[in-house]
Amino acid sequence: MREIEKIEALRRWRKSLPADCTVALVPTMGHFHRGHLSLMQRARGENDLLVVSIFVNPIQFDDERDYHRYPRDQRRDLELARQEGVDVVFAPDNSDLYPEGYCSYVQVEGMTDCLCGASRPGHFRGVTTVVSKLFNVVRPGRAYFGKKDYQQYLVIQRMTRDLSFDTEVVGCPTVREADGLAMSSRNQHLSAGQRESALALYRALKRGRAMVEEGSRDPEEIEIAMRQVVGEHTEVEIDYLQARDAGDLSRPKRLRRCVLLAGAIYVSSTRLIDNIVVQVGEPQEGV
Ligand code: PAF
Repeated sequence: MREIEKIEALRRWRKSLPADCTVALVPTMGHFHRGHLSLMQRARGENDLLVVSIFVNPIQFDDERDYHRYPRDQRRDLELARQEGVDVVFAPDNSDLYPEGYCSYVQVEGMTDCLCGASRPGHFRGVTTVVSKLFNVVRPGRAYFGKKDYQQYLVIQRMTRDLSFDTEVVGCPTVREADGLAMSSRNQHLSAGQRESALALYRALKRGRAMVEEGSRDPEEIEIAMRQVVGEHTEVEIDYLQARDAGDLSRPKRLRRCVLLAGAIYVSSTRLIDNIVVQVGEPQEGV
């Protein structure tokens, strides 16, 4: 496994590959858990070569404390990547990706205004900027993203289409702990008690799913019921709990086709997100 830090070195490696070699990218912010490993396993199986990037991207954090607190353990990550048969770990530093005077950003409009975009101003602009840069440097045929960050997945898919990147964006299922808690690097901040409270989010989403499956199509009614579930836990603060169209994130009066139930909560100062997608009509492309 190669460890590459510089954009120029990554470009040289990329140019040395035969034209018919398929290259996959799994972009990450490190501190790997089973969710990351599942992306690597899928990418490994579907492509000739696998690049994993590790970069805690400062411009996607709306809160500097959150950026500094984000867990990092590169030595462990490198060992896990080696075990997964990763060919290249690309771990650039801030000054290589954002040199002094840096002032170019990529922004997807509309679908970034709601859900996480509404509570984390600038977050998706930071995500789409860094992912564009990674796509330009690695030139992957396929890039793999977890659907736990469902809005991120849709936003990146839209950016890729709108900016004509020659990359297929592959969305992969959320990986959960045995009790249902979605895998997240942020889970490590939770005490045993807080971890128990964090499960309220998945419970609420499951309540929403049951309602959709029983025929409810009114987003407001579903949201009230989901909030009630989380409301039983005093130490949990709701950021949002919403029912939307899973294809374009709109919030119609009556839900149809594919429904996204998405939530973000704070357990103490740790922000956690999760979602469930429920198919109620004909399957939609790219969902
Ligand atoms: O999902 C993440 O870990 C990050 O948002 C990503 C896609 C690696 C961009 O920094």
